[in-house]
Amino acid sequence: MTNLQIFLDIATEAALAAGEVLQGYWGKLEDAITEKGRPGDLVTAADKASEVVVLEVLRRHFPQHSILAEESGKLGNQESEYLWAIDPLDGTTNYAHQYPCFAVSIGLLINGIPQVGVIYNPASNELFRAAAGLGATRNRRPIKVSDSSELRKSLLVTGFAYDRRETSDNNYAEFCHLTHLTQGVRRSGSAAMDLAYVACGRFDGYWERGLSPWDMAAGIILVQEAGGKVTAYDRTPFKMETGRILSTNGYLHDTLSHELMNIPPLSSW
Ligand code: IPD
Ligand code: CA
Ligand code: CA
Ligand code: CA
Repeated sequence: MTNLQIFLDIATEAALAAGEVLQGYWGKLEDAITEKGRPGDLVTAADKASEVVVLEVLRRHFPQHSILAEESGKLGNQESEYLWAIDPLDGTTNYAHQYPCFAVSIGLLINGIPQVGVIYNPASNELFRAAAGLGATRNRRPIKVSDSSELRKSLLVTGFAYDRRETSDNNYAEFCHLTHLTQGVRRSGSAAMDLAYVACGRFDGYWERGLSPWDMAAGIILVQEAGGKVTAYDRTPFKMETGRILSTNGYLHDTLSHELMNIPPLSSW
């Protein structure tokens, strides 16, 4: 078995265990929901308990690796070439409202490049997995991106960062513009699910700003292994630090990039 396969299997073990924790808290949060700082930026007892379980599994198997987890920050050996980016509950707002679109997302970056990804939504019982060179699967069956090449026939998805009230770079103009050019633009509330859905062909493209590595790492390798493309909005190579991602089936990539780079101001709507 290759190392990547081992990493993938352990990440799966961690995601499935964390998914059980999320199922346990489902509908039982009561007042175990707080705001992290910005309005609407929630954290719940389920986020924290799920993260404890993921950390326990990964640290037991890979004590020498580095970790970046949404609720605990940086942990482990920061010199390691292996970095686990963990989102114990992606889609916290959905989860808190019992809207069943959320996931555990676990990505492994090796020297800064996403190589392994697991995204698990226990509510829909969907397990997405990928590793570099090993392909992408949904519930253990191979998946691939859609073959749609016309924007006017496409279904896209995006998201709005928690700082949207504080900046004019809030994605509203992009959302309006692309809503008019496509069959629809959805906002699911889970970046990990958005990328997983691009990977399995349900969405044709996705863009978002303001994301963190734990939101994207697993989804990036999923899309790439499913035959899709991931870059910055302007098609330059993707950089995790910018938090801006454009991910498509590949066929729509240049067109969608062109539109994102030429957004009319909101006042023109
Ligand atoms: C959020 C979700 C959402 C995206 C936000 C993320 P969280 O993650 O992925 O879809 O629009 O930018 O922060 O806080 O639910 O883990
Ligand atoms: Ca997230
Ligand atoms: Ca989260
Ligand atoms: Ca969060």
